[in-house]
Amino acid sequence: MQVKKAVFPVAGLGTRFLPATKASRKEVLPLIDKPLVQYVVEEAVAAGIEQILFVTGRGKRALEDHFDIAFELEAHLYDKGKEKELSHIREISEMVDIFYVRQKEARGLGHAILCARDFVGTEPFAVLLGDDIIDSERPCLAQLLDVYRKYRGPVLALEKVPMELISSYGCVRANHISDRVYEVIDMVEKPKREEAPSDLAIIGRYVLTPEIFPILATQEPGKGGEIQLTDAILKLSREEAIYGCQFEGIRHDCGDKLGFLKATVDMALKREEFSKDFREFLEMRICGK
Ligand code: G1P
Repeated sequence: MQVKKAVFPVAGLGTRFLPATKASRKEVLPLIDKPLVQYVVEEAVAAGIEQILFVTGRGKRALEDHFDIAFELEAHLYDKGKEKELSHIREISEMVDIFYVRQKEARGLGHAILCARDFVGTEPFAVLLGDDIIDSERPCLAQLLDVYRKYRGPVLALEKVPMELISSYGCVRANHISDRVYEVIDMVEKPKREEAPSDLAIIGRYVLTPEIFPILATQEPGKGGEIQLTDAILKLSREEAIYGCQFEGIRHDCGDKLGFLKATVDMALKREEFSKDFREFLEMRICGK
């Protein structure tokens, strides 16, 4: 069955970005000139997703406004003859069908996904976490969907990370079965370095089947007292095989200030309109040239 629906859990308070996130949302912080979340929505659309559900918490207004039709702005751009900007703005509101559901309590990622149960129904679906911005030729989610189509089971995005960082991630023990594809045999949420089964970390892209919902509905709180998606997927692995896809591309952890800065620099160096000037500026600053 084709995967057409995606779930974006966006209920976090973004405390690592305070005070920028006091009145705004982390997802709409701009990476150069686009809100973070738009990069991830574009990745989903490029992978064939037709409907997106944002699982929101407080302050979803900025998100709604960003993906909605902006009549006043469009009229203004039209009057001024700014056609390029106008078509850009229209593209955003026409990109994909977006739905919203509210996660009433912050009970963890697993609980956020459970809030998507009615939206998902009986189809396989994707989950995309907005902190991970992945710059790749073939969209990361499309790479996961290739694995899903071949092996017909849930797929997690995997990346090898330095062992000193493994405690920030879900970590898997997995058997390598073909090029960049693994079968996951164990997983643990944010293990201590010495207890981590490998250096393979779960990155914020998943293809899941609806069989995850009854498990999430009875899942006990795990790490940090939260209902963890990792724990529920581990339970699911006893019923069906779970796969991992070590995707190709560069991932930026934009949930972190330094990661956000690195992503900004990397993306700016790739943007034709100012990459030459920006490169010269950086060289001057770093090498005093
Ligand atoms: C979540 C997941 C974790 C995963 C990570 C990827 O953690 O629980 O398994 O490795 O996303 O970004 P969070 O970073 O939301 O705490």
